[in-house]
Amino acid sequence: MQEIAWYITVVLIGLLALVFLRVLWTSNRQASYEDVARRAYSFRGKLFWLAIIAGVVITGATLIPWPHATFAAAGDAQVVDVTGSQWQWELSKAELRAGQPVEFRVRSKDVNHGFGLYDQSLRMLAQVQAMPGYTNVLRYTFAQPGEYHILCMEYCGVAHHAMRATLTVLPADQK
Ligand code: CUA
Repeated sequence: MQEIAWYITVVLIGLLALVFLRVLWTSNRQASYEDVARRAYSFRGKLFWLAIIAGVVITGATLIPWPHATFAAAGDAQVVDVTGSQWQWELSKAELRAGQPVEFRVRSKDVNHGFGLYDQSLRMLAQVQAMPGYTNVLRYTFAQPGEYHILCMEYCGVAHHAMRATLTVLPADQK
């Protein structure tokens, strides 16, 4: 991803440099104002429609796995009550089943914590705030069995880094 971003940046810098060079080369050329204005307005109109079309296409393409659509279908969810406090996570259950939605009901006993759900290689899967006085709901369905980790994502004091817990996700057909 970093590499792609780097190439895109270089290409855009190159394009911008070309614009500057063109301006430099044509800056002493005489032209009528009407002519320049007409071309600029036409260019702006095209740019407007290009932006609209790109916006619609990108929005459609990136929102197809609409995250909120899965929320309603969580009737048979496995519920886990999660309470964060300095500096631990209390879980009402630490064994879950793959393939069935999980509803984490997350709160805090003291200060704000961040409930971060990670896979075995510590790639983040989902997160929600753990706040005193509120219950925040996070729904997630584990596709694969295995060990998963919960790490605190909000600095909450000297032992913030030690505020972690482990979840075991069993295969779908196993109790
Ligand atoms: Cu709890 Cu950081």
